[in-house]
Amino acid sequence: MAKVNENYLKLPGSYLFSTIGKKVSAYSAEHPDKKIIRLGIGDVTQPLAPAITEALHNAVDEMGKAESFRGYAPDLGYEFLRSAIAENDYRVRGCDISADEIFVSDGAKCDCSNIQEIFSLDNKIAVCDPVYPVYVDSNVMAGRTGVYDPGAGTWSNVIYMPCTADNSFVPELPRETPDLIYLCFPNNPTGATVTKPQLQQWVDYANKTGAVILYDAAYEAYISEEDVPHSIYECEGAKTCAIEMRSFSKNAGFTGVRLGFTVVPKELKCGGVALHSLWARRHGTKYNGAPYIVQRAGEAVYSEAGRAQLREQVAYYMNNARYIYDGLKEAGFTVSGGVNAPYIWLKTPGKMSSWEFFDYLLEKGNVVGTPGSGFGPSGEGYFRLTAFGSYENTVEAVGRIKTIQV
Ligand SMILES: Cc1ncc(COP(=O)(O)O)c(C=O)c1O
Repeated sequence: MAKVNENYLKLPGSYLFSTIGKKVSAYSAEHPDKKIIRLGIGDVTQPLAPAITEALHNAVDEMGKAESFRGYAPDLGYEFLRSAIAENDYRVRGCDISADEIFVSDGAKCDCSNIQEIFSLDNKIAVCDPVYPVYVDSNVMAGRTGVYDPGAGTWSNVIYMPCTADNSFVPELPRETPDLIYLCFPNNPTGATVTKPQLQQWVDYANKTGAVILYDAAYEAYISEEDVPHSIYECEGAKTCAIEMRSFSKNAGFTGVRLGFTVVPKELKCGGVALHSLWARRHGTKYNGAPYIVQRAGEAVYSEAGRAQLREQVAYYMNNARYIYDGLKEAGFTVSGGVNAPYIWLKTPGKMSSWEFFDYLLEKGNVVGTPGSGFGPSGEGYFRLTAFGSYENTVEAVGRIKTIQV
């Protein structure tokens, strides 16, 4: 008789954004006349840049002709894209990453959740708290996280690294030594970043302890400050301890197009085994590649026109971020993030819990954000707003938040 993977049954409640979706649908059904502004989920709203749509059209035309039709993509992704990534994301920043250390995929979410598969089940993971929920949930599904404590909202076999106002939302080195360390900078949900010396500390720590850092740089394009590293490989020694994951979702608006990549340096070994070979084996066995059309669109991200257009797109969202940050600060909220990331992290007013503030804001302002507690216990009392809306909606939402009485 077939049996289910019981680890799935351990997952508490429904996924954060489905809960939000249900609450918003229920409110809309009761109040069909209200215009709800959604600054909750981190999804982009601007259309694809012209350089991207042109590349997509051209690639579609190629696929329609016998002489340029392509079938399955090479296992690691097309050379033209991997070379563009190696050159533009790494070599120009002084990082010695070669095209054959890059694995093209259909996005960072899959890679972040699948990467744990190449590690033993008895590895102990460390995560920031609050955290992008995918890192923890994928480890729950694998059976690596122990027992859930519903009161505390924590797993017995996970090391939580609190990121609070006291440490400027940057985790401290854990007291207990983990095997796998998930880091994400610029951070979702807090919008915090690390400086290069701060990240170097993590690299040194991982090299010393034999831990592997799983570094999620999905928001790299939003970095505006000089001393913030764009890649973990800017740190000395990172190639022997870190895997980096990137996405085209937020820098190029590919949330619905789907493209990402993971870098596994060839020097990175675990008990003498090269992780590059394991990930290559996994990729080859379980994945058949991102579409040719989409990989051509990804290549256009690095063209001169693509770069210029996407700089503008990122600037558009960051202008929203500044507007939210300044507006809420003016209104007396305690805010952070929004400088190197499209997320504003605000303290809920008074003694309101994250979900109380969610309900309050939905009802009084018809604005949807994300309760901080949905990202982990240290997110309680916080709330995330995204800069991914239109400018007009952002202005209206901030105006509404300013006028509601808390
Ligand atoms: C930290 C982080 N990593 C990864 C992703 C997912 O990226 P992708 O759209 O490439 O799957 C997100 C999306 O919101 C994210 O916030």
